[in-house]
Amino acid sequence: MNEPAIRLSKLVKVFGETRAVDGLDLEVPAGAVYGVLGPNGAGKTTAVRMIATLLRPDGGEATVFGHDVVREADAVRSRVSLTGQYASVDEEMTGAENLILLSRLLGHRKPAARDRAAELLEAFGLTDAAGRQVKTYSGGMRRRLDIAASILSTPDLLVLDEPTTGLDPRSRNQVWDIVRVVVAHGTTVLLTTQYLEEADRLASRIAVIDHGRLIAEGTPGELKSSVGAGSVHVRLREAADRPEAERLLAEALDAPVHLEADPVALTARIGDGRDEVAAAQASAALARLAGAGIVVDDFSLGQPSLDEVFLALTDHPATEEAAA
Ligand SMILES: Nc1ncnc2c1ncn2[C@@H]1O[C@H](COP(=O)(O)OP(=O)(O)OP(=O)(O)O)[C@@H](O)[C@H]1O
Ligand SMILES: [Mg+2]
Repeated sequence: MNEPAIRLSKLVKVFGETRAVDGLDLEVPAGAVYGVLGPNGAGKTTAVRMIATLLRPDGGEATVFGHDVVREADAVRSRVSLTGQYASVDEEMTGAENLILLSRLLGHRKPAARDRAAELLEAFGLTDAAGRQVKTYSGGMRRRLDIAASILSTPDLLVLDEPTTGLDPRSRNQVWDIVRVVVAHGTTVLLTTQYLEEADRLASRIAVIDHGRLIAEGTPGELKSSVGAGSVHVRLREAADRPEAERLLAEALDAPVHLEADPVALTARIGDGRDEVAAAQASAALARLAGAGIVVDDFSLGQPSLDEVFLALTDHPATEEAAA
């Protein structure tokens, strides 16, 4: 069996009264993107800072490629690169100067450092901006430069702490592309995020944490199916039909029906774990609505979203936006 990239055992970090990380057990396989998903204050940054040796655990153990983060911190540091919510690049210098300087600090000679910088700037679409001071960069450009800086030396483990928070959809997509390229080159990526969609798209496994504890772990598909086979989403033509539709759906699906904020929308989670049963129930439900003369504009059966997964696991939404 391959050695995991990261192994956490009963990891603890306490700040005064706050147990920021509260007995976290985790195993991150090498060679893929591993997502750590959790709301504000869940303990994501605290956990990854311990993994990157920037913060000393108060209890438990963490190893990176078999090396203990406390006793063998140097060995860990030589293999890990962290791109933080707190960035590493110098605002006053240009993008190219930053990368060349960091490459020189890593021990590369000047021509090699220049070449590597030019290569990364090109790969990350920053060639045109290479000669500009970083303080003139947009958020997306800045984030790409941060990631470029952290893979100058092709780390075995790249830790990305909320790499797309605050970015527009286009910049977010660019960062996702970069992450895929990095992984294709053999680097293990540990990525924290508050975005369920991001974890779903990028990660082959996801840990859901809340209040410093692991509340679920698995592939995106496993997490979704642990909540139920699927969700039925219905949009009616007329809001006035909703009470009747709610009653008919609850009967046909034998499941509680959730009334969405949108006055024509209803959702129901189908509890049975088998896809064919869910499909049969869903089509029976649709027939009941049609039979009662209720006009349905949209009807779909899908896997629950990770938002629904989060709500089911924690009894609260993952994000402020989801709550709103
Ligand atoms: N240096 C510190 N001193 C005191 N409390 C801290 C410190 N760092 C973190 N905390 C607390 O620990 C908890 C976990 O914080 P952490 O930053 O790890 O969460 P997070 O999951 O990264 O959140 P976010 O998504 O907002 O970045 C929070 O309650 C936070 O206020
Ligand atoms: Mg954080």
